[in-house]
Amino acid sequence: MAVQPGGSQPETGRPVAGGLADRYGRVATDLRVSLTDRCNLRCSYCMPAEGLAWLPGPDVLTDDEVGRLVRIAVERLGVTEVRFTGGEPLLRPGLLSIVSAAAALTPRPTLSLTTNGIGLARLAGPLRSAGLDRVNVSLDTLDPARFEQLTRRRRLPDVLAGLAAAVEAGLTPAKINSVLMRGVNEADAPELLRFALAHGYELRFIEQMPLDAQHAWDRSVMVTASEILTALRAGFTLLPDPVARGGAPAETWLVEGFTAAGGGPARVGVIGSVTRPFCGDCDRTRLTADGQVRACLFATEESDLRGALRTGADDEELARRWRVAMWGKRAGHGIDDPSFLQPARPMSAIGG
Ligand code: 5AD
Ligand code: SF4
Repeated sequence: MAVQPGGSQPETGRPVAGGLADRYGRVATDLRVSLTDRCNLRCSYCMPAEGLAWLPGPDVLTDDEVGRLVRIAVERLGVTEVRFTGGEPLLRPGLLSIVSAAAALTPRPTLSLTTNGIGLARLAGPLRSAGLDRVNVSLDTLDPARFEQLTRRRRLPDVLAGLAAAVEAGLTPAKINSVLMRGVNEADAPELLRFALAHGYELRFIEQMPLDAQHAWDRSVMVTASEILTALRAGFTLLPDPVARGGAPAETWLVEGFTAAGGGPARVGVIGSVTRPFCGDCDRTRLTADGQVRACLFATEESDLRGALRTGADDEELARRWRVAMWGKRAGHGIDDPSFLQPARPMSAIGG
C-alpha cells in the first residue's frame, strides 16, 4: 500500500511508522507486561479459591521473547514506561534478568512492578540492583483475619515486610493499591491511609472492576470513588492537588498536615475506573504473558505477537502488528453500555 509523506495509510490514517497512536488521538507510551498469570494469593475479587487453569508453559513467552518485545516497544514504538505485572510477577523465575535487560535499553524506560508483596522482602534489593525504579504493592486491609478472608491466605506479615523492604531498597515512592469490597473491607479506608501516611507509602484506592474470573462483579455493590472519599474525609482533610493529573488514572488529593516520605505534601489517590473513567487520557498498551497485545484492560480482541515472533517475523513486522493493534483501540471501556461484555481473560491473566 502506498505510504503518504506523513507516514500514514491514505485510507485509514493508521500510522505505518512511529508510536502507538489510535484513531482517537491517544498515543500509548506506558507498557504493562504480564510476566505470569499465576498467583500465590486468591483475592476474591480476582480468582476463585481453587485458582485458575494456568497458561501452559510453552505458551508463555520466554525471558528472551519478553526482552525482545519490550525492546521493540521502547526502540521503535515510543514506550517510555514499562510496568511488570502478573498474576504475581515475583513468581516469574527470570524476573531479575528481564528487568536488567529492560534497564539496559536506550532510551532507558522507567521500570516499575505491581506485586502483592509476597517475596518482596527478599527480592527488593536484587530488583533495585537490576534497575527497577518503583513498586506498587496491593494491600486491601491491615487486619490479619480480613486479609485471610479476602486473599484466602495468611500472608499479611509477608506483604508488610515486602513494603518495608521496598522503601529500604530505594524502590520509591512505594505505592499501595487497595480495592474495597462491600461488607468485607469497606470500612478499612481510613486505617489504610493512616498506615500509609505513617510509613511514607503512597496510597491509591481502585474501584473494583468487572475483571474477576468468576464474573461475580456487581455494580450495585461496588464501593464507589465518591464513597471512598466520603469515608476518608471523615478522618482527614483532603485538599485539591495542584499537580495536573495528566494521563494518570488516579485522581489525587493532598492530605492536610502530612508530609510525604521524600518531603512535600502527602497525597492519596482514588482510581474511579468505573464511575470516573479516564479512557480519554489512556496512554497504556498491554502485553500478556502469552504474547498477546491488548489495547485495553477491557478489550475483547487481542493481537497475537507470539505467533509472529515464533515464525520468524522481524522487529519491524512485530512493531507494525503492535501499531495495528493499538489503532483499533476503542474509545472507552463501555462498562455502562447495555452491550458491555466482560473480557474472557481475567485480570490475573492481563495484569493491572
Ligand atoms: N478490580 C480492581 N482492581 C483489581 N485488581 C485485581 N483485580 C481487580 C478488580 N477486579 C488490582 C489488584 C492489584 C492490581 C493489579 O489490580 O488488587 O492491585
Ligand atoms: Fe493474585 Fe493480584 Fe489476583 Fe490477588 S488480585 S489473586 S494478588 S493476581
